[in-house]
Amino acid sequence: MGKDEKVRLIMKRKEDHINICTDKPVQSRRLTTLFENVHLINNSLPEIDLDQIDTTTTFLGHRFSAPIMVGAMTGGAKLAEKINRNIAEACEELGLGMAVGSQRAGLYDKRLAATYSVARKVAPDIFLGTNVGGAQISKGFSVADGKRLIEMLDADAFYIHLNPEQEVTQPEGEPNYSNVASKIRHFVQNVGIPVVVKEVGSGISGDVAKKLESAGVSAIEVAGAGGTSYVAVEYYRAKEMRMRSKEMIGDLFWDWGIPTAASLLMVRKAVKIPVVSSGGIRTGLDIAKSVAMGATLCAQAQPMLKPAMTSSKAVRQHIEDLIFELKTAMFLTGCKNISELSRLRYVVTGELNDWLKSGPS
Ligand SMILES: Cc1cc2nc3c(=O)[nH]c(=O)nc-3n(C[C@H](O)[C@H](O)[C@H](O)COP(=O)(O)O)c2cc1C
Repeated sequence: MGKDEKVRLIMKRKEDHINICTDKPVQSRRLTTLFENVHLINNSLPEIDLDQIDTTTTFLGHRFSAPIMVGAMTGGAKLAEKINRNIAEACEELGLGMAVGSQRAGLYDKRLAATYSVARKVAPDIFLGTNVGGAQISKGFSVADGKRLIEMLDADAFYIHLNPEQEVTQPEGEPNYSNVASKIRHFVQNVGIPVVVKEVGSGISGDVAKKLESAGVSAIEVAGAGGTSYVAVEYYRAKEMRMRSKEMIGDLFWDWGIPTAASLLMVRKAVKIPVVSSGGIRTGLDIAKSVAMGATLCAQAQPMLKPAMTSSKAVRQHIEDLIFELKTAMFLTGCKNISELSRLRYVVTGELNDWLKSGPS
């Protein structure tokens, strides 16, 4: 197969991912994030002015105007370039941050690299994260390759995503995670910028978080279950490609994972490094709860896609709505800034308690 044909196939795959995520049901079917089991306590005497609420925070030395970033999604196609551009422009205007999607395609061809680097081009000041998979670093993706990804974005953090379940279901997946923890340590020691490790929708347990912390990673993004199921995305692709066993696995494991609220509390308890709450973050109230539960930041992915396919203004409007919801939750709990919100007491009920009592650590 010639290079042009290969580039065409990569672009088609990346566009399929985006189109499936906007056109088909890809959210969790039976699981929820369990944020509905977390209750903030109403304060009828908040003694603060809604307009004076300060949502600024800091993550890995970068100032964010609110504890929000756009989660890793895309690159490697024309449509992806538009999405990255619109998200980056909105983040630049709002003083937030983002991570791009799996960047391996960007190493293959200059035309593809431009679909990622557009983010830095239009947003010189934002916090920007690279992205590569655990399966790739396990299989020989080198630190030199990693440095090229960093250069492509002038990146602030090196994101590694852990997606063992997706690798099984994905038609072209590589379900080999041998030695991945030691490879992560090697990257931490050699890439020269902070390493953040994330899941893609199945959540991180306390035990895994401890291993990641001892490997030296700077932050963990939980990407728990209850929001977008990336396995569902691959299920549709496997079905289309008539890969029967992968389609079957995708259907069975559609809801596999640790609900986001459970993952967040487990990871928060297990490690001291900053934790990012993600996977099914849908409202500013989810964000307020996450911060009260110990998250430094929240990342939202799939709901950003449609606005990002329209314009940077639409992305900005979407994020401003989230910030207004967050501020309302802060007003109703009497928190005038993020530091106060992070110390707020909350009540845990129902199934989330079951996870915390009997679930894995
Ligand atoms: C279209 C799309 C593409 C994604 N691609 C990546 C990726 O390349 N790398 C990655 O780390 N996560 C990827 N994710 C996972 C998200 O970063 C996030 O962890 C997951 O979607 C859960 O968040 P959500 O429920 O807010 O969508 C992707 C998600 C979507 C919707």
